[in-house]
Amino acid sequence: MSVNWALPFDEKILPEDKRNVVNIETYHEIHKRSINAFRDFWAGVASELEWYKPWEKVLDDSNPPFYKWFAGGELNACYLCVDRHAKTWRKNKVAILWEGEPIEKGIPKEIRKITYGELYRLVNRVAYMLKTVYGLKKGDTIGIYLPMIPELPIVMLAASRLGVVYTVVFSGFSSDSLADRMNDAEAKLVITADGGWRAGKIVPLKDIVDEALKKSPTVKNVLVVKRIGNEINMQKGRDQYFEDVLETIPINATVEPERMRSEDTLYMLYTSGTTGKPKGIIHDTGGYLTLLHGTMKWIFDIRDDDVFWCTADIGWVTGHSYIVYGPLLEGATVLMYDGSLTYPEPDRWVSIIERHGVNVFYTSPTAIRGWMKFGPEWVTKHDTSSVRLMHSVGEPINPEAFRWLYKYVGREKIPFGSTWWMTETGGILISHLPGLYLVPMKPGTNGPPILGIDADVVNENGVSQSPGERGYLVIKNPFPGNIMTLFKDPERYKQVYYSRFNGYFYAGDYAVKDKDGYIWTLGRADEVIKVAGHRLGTYELESALIQHSSVSEAAVVGVPDEVKGEVPVAFVILRQGNEPSEKLANELNLWIRQKVGPIASLKNVFFVSKLPKTRSAKIMRRVVQAVAVGKPVGDVTTLEDQASVDEVKKAYMELTKEVSK
Ligand code: WTA
Repeated sequence: MSVNWALPFDEKILPEDKRNVVNIETYHEIHKRSINAFRDFWAGVASELEWYKPWEKVLDDSNPPFYKWFAGGELNACYLCVDRHAKTWRKNKVAILWEGEPIEKGIPKEIRKITYGELYRLVNRVAYMLKTVYGLKKGDTIGIYLPMIPELPIVMLAASRLGVVYTVVFSGFSSDSLADRMNDAEAKLVITADGGWRAGKIVPLKDIVDEALKKSPTVKNVLVVKRIGNEINMQKGRDQYFEDVLETIPINATVEPERMRSEDTLYMLYTSGTTGKPKGIIHDTGGYLTLLHGTMKWIFDIRDDDVFWCTADIGWVTGHSYIVYGPLLEGATVLMYDGSLTYPEPDRWVSIIERHGVNVFYTSPTAIRGWMKFGPEWVTKHDTSSVRLMHSVGEPINPEAFRWLYKYVGREKIPFGSTWWMTETGGILISHLPGLYLVPMKPGTNGPPILGIDADVVNENGVSQSPGERGYLVIKNPFPGNIMTLFKDPERYKQVYYSRFNGYFYAGDYAVKDKDGYIWTLGRADEVIKVAGHRLGTYELESALIQHSSVSEAAVVGVPDEVKGEVPVAFVILRQGNEPSEKLANELNLWIRQKVGPIASLKNVFFVSKLPKTRSAKIMRRVVQAVAVGKPVGDVTTLEDQASVDEVKKAYMELTKEVSK
């Protein structure tokens, strides 16, 4: 579904900061050189990391699309993010600056500052614990279901020190979602907390884990971080408090970082696709860190005296790349918070900026639209002048949201962009590069492809579209950071990403290029929706609905929402003997929240007697979509529905009639 904000192609803004200003033609020339020699280009970036063993081949492309970057090279992510800095003056520099809920009279009760030296100690002890107490070793898998507390990055780094593959599950997902992921990953251990704070309420994480583990037999142990200090169920022999076990580990315990091959898995992250359950996206070590290193420098212009704040949750890829690995790789001070950006007062987020002197700020359109609702006075009463650079991510940014943040935090003079990327790509691929060159900004665009990335907009046949014509976003060259494969499903990896456009990486997004070569992604071209920037598959929501005893068939589509960008609505056919009612609609909504998680809340449930289908029995999604948004079907119908125009029109009329009953 495409959100299609109005696109003011020609409204250009140059930040007041005029360092490195280049015109866009010059940028394209430089860019062209980088993609003509993309292997050498990326090798140059990778050589800035510290390798135990140099690579033998920059890119092993002998078996496309299973690309191996820096094949033969050896490195360790934890070493690069922690040890390397702890050995230098950065030992006493704050690595993780954390503030939590509760907030009392505008002041957080707890603020933790962990230096690189302390991080080194902590990560080593946790790694030692995982290795000696739980016997975990390279190639084993664990699950992490933690709130936004420092233990989350610490556990991730400890696992990567050992080469233990981990998968973080967003703490807003339900027990069913957690169980599915633990089963698919065959996780041996889960690390969770006795609870998490979220806008003044306690999220009962351990109860959710207990529920999930009834269905996840591979998990033998649970480690529970004491966050709330409340009474929880602890199963003897299976569950232990993280702090209790850690206490048994010598204070100066160290573990040698495992020498990982560049193509070895760093982590796995589940994400929604078009069909089936969420799939495990596998990220490598060398390529991934190379892309993060480049993007931290070029896009965030990261400097040693910066406080870097990305408002995402580590449960999603943005947090993995731009809270944990990216900033720590650069030896930066990274800010982390838990709770909500607008609780207990709408200005929690601005007070965080002011309190900690945030310099580089990375947030999302949904967050910005949420702040806009409360009015600018909540921003202007704070001093945000420390912020010198901003970016947004996760969904298309509407020009109004862009202008608002640019005015109230950006003081209409600092660089501000909308970085495009996805879980699969590991890091940002389309963005302005204010750390290298300043090109004019345009409210709503993603900007040009970054160096070394050959991004393009193509038509159905894979041919480049002319400026202004909508098409599909593809990446034409192999690039470091990209997904290695889908866990246990290499065929599907090939088919989903590389089969549609003849060897190009297909992102699944609609996009348009303007005459300056800037790319504007417009939204997903498939059955994925972005709810408040969170990625959900409509198929997952449909399968959750049909598990309810009253539902026979269901179709879920996304509709535009003023704050969240998009929200799901459901069209439901009931089983015989069930009557449509508001009560049942509420029950189905509650059901889906329990099955998937609160982020999947339905905006509306329409009870219908029939769903429009093609002759091959596929639901005509564009028809359902058109009815849901109340638009004429012509605007959204495409041949993808494999139905004739008349059939589509008829189906549209029928469904509209039912819905307006
Ligand atoms: C969308 C999030 C427009 C896009 C990092 C993509 C964006 C999907 C932007 C991936 C942006 C991400 N402008 N759309 N700046 N950033 N998207 O895997 O549809 O959660 O395909 O990764 O988010 O979502 P994911």
